[in-house]
Amino acid sequence: MKTIRLRAKRSDEAKKALPLPFSEPEVPAADQTESPAPVKVRTEPRRRETAQTLAQKQREISVSEFFLKNRHLLGFDNPQKALLTAVKEAVDNSLDAAEEAGILPDLKIEIEQLTEERFRIAVEDNGPGIVRSQIPKIFGKLLYGSKFHRLRQARGQQGLGISSAGMYGQLTTGKPVVITSRTGPNREAHHFEIVLDTAKNEPKVLTDTTVSWDVPHGTRVEIELEGLYRKGPRSVDEYITQTAIANPHARIVYKPPKDDVIIYERTANELPRQPIEIKPHPYGVELGALIKMMQDTKARSLKAALQTDFSRVSPRVADEICAQGGLNSAKRPSRLDPQEIEQLFQAIPKTKIMAPPTNCLSPIGQEQILAGLQRLGAEFTTAVTRPPAVYRGNPFQIEAGLAYGGNLPSEDLVQLMRFANRVPLLYQQSACAIFKATMSVDWRNYALSQAKGALPAGPCVILVHMASAWVPFTSESKEAIASYPEIMKEIRLALQECGRQLAVHIRRGRRLAEEHRKRSYIEQYLPIIGEALQNILDLSDRQRQQAVSTLENILERSRKL
Ligand SMILES: Nc1ncnc2c1ncn2[C@@H]1O[C@H](COP(=O)(O)OP(=O)(O)O)[C@@H](O)[C@H]1O
Ligand SMILES: [Mg+2]
Repeated sequence: MKTIRLRAKRSDEAKKALPLPFSEPEVPAADQTESPAPVKVRTEPRRRETAQTLAQKQREISVSEFFLKNRHLLGFDNPQKALLTAVKEAVDNSLDAAEEAGILPDLKIEIEQLTEERFRIAVEDNGPGIVRSQIPKIFGKLLYGSKFHRLRQARGQQGLGISSAGMYGQLTTGKPVVITSRTGPNREAHHFEIVLDTAKNEPKVLTDTTVSWDVPHGTRVEIELEGLYRKGPRSVDEYITQTAIANPHARIVYKPPKDDVIIYERTANELPRQPIEIKPHPYGVELGALIKMMQDTKARSLKAALQTDFSRVSPRVADEICAQGGLNSAKRPSRLDPQEIEQLFQAIPKTKIMAPPTNCLSPIGQEQILAGLQRLGAEFTTAVTRPPAVYRGNPFQIEAGLAYGGNLPSEDLVQLMRFANRVPLLYQQSACAIFKATMSVDWRNYALSQAKGALPAGPCVILVHMASAWVPFTSESKEAIASYPEIMKEIRLALQECGRQLAVHIRRGRRLAEEHRKRSYIEQYLPIIGEALQNILDLSDRQRQQAVSTLENILERSRKL
């Protein structure tokens, strides 16, 4: 004890005696950078920054400060999009939570317009609720969530969604997020008002009470924010319609700002298959992630780490990877030096490894897509679910659906509905693999017209869904899917299959229309021909009727149906 204290003392004193590298007089940073406003011809050389002056400016940046400045990264770059993003984040969470708890989701979505630019949104679910102690961090801290550290198909991922929506609301209106949540009928319903301290990225609780609530279990989130409500292709209305199509097991009650309540009844009474959590496949791992995995692993040898932390690595495959990289399979993973990890990284793609398991996927399913599309009032619908495939070690599955005719507008280009893990993607269409793959299909083969470099035209809606434990989005705001060749190929195959069904329908339709036209000629002109024949040949009425029916038979037989 004594020696330790002594040593500590000595080192403190030693520090004091040493000339410190930062011991120059402290000048406030502002004095050194800001020159007086009027522009003068400079006579002496400009004062440059030194390591010392720069050192004074270094400051930690909290994630919330970062995202506050870069809110476009999270989808809050303009008021219309901000309104949509806030609703979307809350709805994604409600659907995820209900499904994870094995509950058929029942959602209420309300948008109340307070002034021209100010709205209050409320999203209520019948999910499992949130335990009281977790509520502040979930809604008042960025990068806090239950989904980031697992590989499982879900709508949310980064733990950024709902807290960033709350932060945007707070920034634009100064109002806290209001949460009511209850975990069971015998538990209290907790009511919170929370703001986010952006300098610290920590929640500040303004209200924490219990209330009486007629909902047995679930969560209600209310956010006041600046926004813009518009109808049309990228509206909240469109987002909700598409959400109902891709989630036929959910019942959604939606109250838009001015119009009446819209109810989307569920068309499927069963929950989608519960996706299973998987471990990463070696083919998909990045070098940085590999370094971290080797540091964090509980396994004592490289061989064991490969087997336990990755999917599809058997003892034999682990040996092969080590041999391929010239590595000692018994070495402690945390002792691997950067060179060795690099060797390991290089060895993985050279080793043959079985494709990842696909039970982590939960597609919508052909029948459910058809049921969803039928909501559109089309005359023809078709859908296909492709078998699972793999990009960079990540399993994924593509589904496509197509609705044609009926109530759909015929003059325009087809409407393309894009989904990732059942979430509609409404922005950045042209950057998305789904759009690019749809354009690359020659739709003229399938009886639709298509101008060069454009989507096909016609009374048609095309739906594409990608399900994956890791959807490769092109940015944090999750708007477009990256164009990996494997993904593009699967989308094309799915679309071509739908296209073939459509072509059969359209061509049959055209033939029927032709038949109908011919039949109407027969019905229109045969009686007149009968009368003419009667006049020329001086036939009785009976003979005229016989002649007409004989002619009718001959003509009918010559028509091919
Ligand atoms: N309505 C809800 N019901 C139950 N849990 C919720 C709800 N909303 C959010 N959560 C929990 O809060 C976490 C953080 O949500 P969020 O910030 O949107 O991040 P993410 O969805 O990406 O994980 C979620 O992972 C989930 O565990
Ligand atoms: Mg979320």
